Amino acid sequence: MGLGKKMADFIDARLGIRDILEQNLTKYLLPRNINAWYTLGAVLLTLFTVQIATGILLLIYYNPNTDEAFRSVQRIMNEVPFGWLIRTIHAVGSNIIVLALLLHMLSVLFMGSYKRPRELTWVAGFLLLLLSLGMCLTGYLLPWSQLSFWATTVATNSSQELPMIGDAAVRFLRGGAMVGQPTLGRFFALHVMGFPLLFGMLVLFHLFCVRRVGISRPPFGHDWQAPPPSTTFRHEEHPGGIPFFPHYVAKDAAIIAFFLALLLGVVFFAPGLFFPPAAFEPADPFVTPPGIKPEWYFLWAYQTLKLLPSEFLGLAVQGVAVTLLLLLPFLDRSPERRPSRRPLFVSAYVLGVALFVALSVWGHYS
Ligand code: HEM
Repeated sequence: MGLGKKMADFIDARLGIRDILEQNLTKYLLPRNINAWYTLGAVLLTLFTVQIATGILLLIYYNPNTDEAFRSVQRIMNEVPFGWLIRTIHAVGSNIIVLALLLHMLSVLFMGSYKRPRELTWVAGFLLLLLSLGMCLTGYLLPWSQLSFWATTVATNSSQELPMIGDAAVRFLRGGAMVGQPTLGRFFALHVMGFPLLFGMLVLFHLFCVRRVGISRPPFGHDWQAPPPSTTFRHEEHPGGIPFFPHYVAKDAAIIAFFLALLLGVVFFAPGLFFPPAAFEPADPFVTPPGIKPEWYFLWAYQTLKLLPSEFLGLAVQGVAVTLLLLLPFLDRSPERRPSRRPLFVSAYVLGVALFVALSVWGHYS
């Protein structure tokens, strides 16, 4: 008997690990008609692991001081071996994550998987989306470039329009009247500690919900039936389904490989997409560079603020839209999940996606 097997037997006799693995891998059955959209959760887990690993490596050389931050990032890019690769993967990775997050959310919406009994899975997921955007926003300031400085100045300026607390909110976010060292300090603390800690706890809760409730059956095909209504807890079983391991893991791996290839493709062949010229100049509070725009995923919000007659109205519209989405499972309570039987929802969905794309393109070119 090999040493490895002996050790495995030793541990198994004490902790029963094989049983846990079996229950969660080969005996964990997923719906037979499960589709590729269900792999996006695993894609996100992988991409976040890449972000954590590259983020820790960046921390070795990054200096969160307004006099040093820009120079330390330049050093990472030009002097540290493979520093450019680590930094570019981290910066481009945040964009690919937002893309995967949006696709994951859109697929869950389309298939109605946010409905009972998955309301808590949805709420945890939506908070993860907001936290991820918070991490993108705080990370954007850290290189202390012209782009970082002015994008953060514009983003924090909009809270000025909040009634009564506008000025206080801006001061709170910036730690002063202008973006400066206190802003860099608090954004750094949130980006590398505050948000990731919260994020880790929420991911664990999200995964607990997914496993405890069971994966939803895709609402397609003529044999689809809504699970019977139940007021007590019931794990959704899929007798005769496909095992999570190795069958579904192989599908997960293929889509994960696609997203990693996309990430590396952009890193090697089109990094300029995410590094406009203002990203290569150190922050200068006295020179506003022309055409500062937020990242693509904030363009819809930026354009809404520009189009509506007052910034306050824009903030209110955005606040209502975000709250409605967060509370969606409690507002849309019908158990029907088949898209063909939810024409009103599907029309609102198509309209919402079209509006998001149109506002983003308009924001980009305006
Ligand atoms: C860091 C971000 C996230 C991670 C790591 C993550 C991870 C996962 C994983 C692994 C699954 C199970 C497989 C699958 O259906 O994809 C899942 C399911 C789910 N996620 Fe997420 N997720 C994240 C964000 C979100 C967001 C932003 C939402 C919605 C706003 C969301 C809503 C859901 C729902 C409702 C399910 C249950 C799907 C079902 O059972 O059919 N998640 N998530």
